Amino acid sequence: MEVSAFIARNADIPFALSGSDMALSDAFGRRIDYLRVAVTDRCNLRCIYCMPKGVPSCAAPGTPIEKETLECLLRVAVKQGLRKVRFTGGEPLLRGDIPELVHSAKSLGVADVSLTTNGLFLKDRSRELKEAGLDRVNISLDSLRPERYARLTGGGSVEHVFGAITSAEAEGLSPVKINVVPIRGINDDEIVEFAALTHMKPFHVRFIELMPVGEEGWGTERRISSSQVMKIISASLGRLEPVGAEGTSRNFRLDGSKGFLGFISPMSNHFCGTCNRLRLTTRRTLRPCLFSNEEFSIAGVDSDDDMEAVLRRVAQSKPIGKGCRPSIPLEAMSQVGG
Ligand code: 5AD
Ligand code: SF4
Repeated sequence: MEVSAFIARNADIPFALSGSDMALSDAFGRRIDYLRVAVTDRCNLRCIYCMPKGVPSCAAPGTPIEKETLECLLRVAVKQGLRKVRFTGGEPLLRGDIPELVHSAKSLGVADVSLTTNGLFLKDRSRELKEAGLDRVNISLDSLRPERYARLTGGGSVEHVFGAITSAEAEGLSPVKINVVPIRGINDDEIVEFAALTHMKPFHVRFIELMPVGEEGWGTERRISSSQVMKIISASLGRLEPVGAEGTSRNFRLDGSKGFLGFISPMSNHFCGTCNRLRLTTRRTLRPCLFSNEEFSIAGVDSDDDMEAVLRRVAQSKPIGKGCRPSIPLEAMSQVGG
């Protein structure tokens, strides 16, 4: 939709600058300072919980954001307090100009620029990305066993992911965060091994609760709650000492460990109250919430004033209490960016 038409249609939505400053906040007083940018919906893998077999994808390919529009968005958002940008996908490293996008974000003043990747193409690109201004990476890794990893991802090589972790660490893309989705009967026998990595390395190993996908809610029976995962870990490795929260992750450490354990619990303990993020999808729309169907187009928006108007309206439309939806739409993960 054209911005002017959008504004005309939504003219009755109340919005206001937050207090005397320019900071972006929503109707519930939540400060919005984090943007997740899905730069492509393409992926070189087919992870079972993202693209379950036998569940037809209803997602048409999007038209990912172009650099100029992203720069306009970031310029305006930084003025309104944007601090953190995470590039996601799909697989963001499939986008050839990802170092340029990182560079734009950093040079426009985003304090914390990170990227979530499956790691298969990271090993040889860590240096280039670091030089472009990337601060850190999150690497998705659901099994440490080569055959199982290949099965879970539709053909990926876990050796490449290990290489990616080593190179990310060497280039100072740290702390390296490893995202694990525990799935009953599939990788739950590796939970302790994953947690024990923090004894050896200063990694943040983050366990994410499986979110059911698609209309059928694939994965509902296979979900293992964060509290179950914590019990499994402490039964083998001892007490988990709480060290506070960071965004949506509740963090802990094991006695004598170099790294941290994080628990992200979108299903059992939704974090709406402290949600500080908006999402840019691969349809060039801003989405106020992963679980919301509302989206606001920024395609073709090239003036800072128009962009600011859209941004404030998106922030104001951010819902609260949507976390209990039974499942995320099928296209959400690869188009909305996880
Ligand atoms: N449930 C939980 N996490 C998921 N991810 C993708 N799909 C799901 C799902 N259904 C996670 C991946 C990756 C991040 C981008 O999103 O593990 O780390
Ligand atoms: Fe690709 Fe990530 Fe989806 Fe796996 S979870 S298929 S790596 S987009």
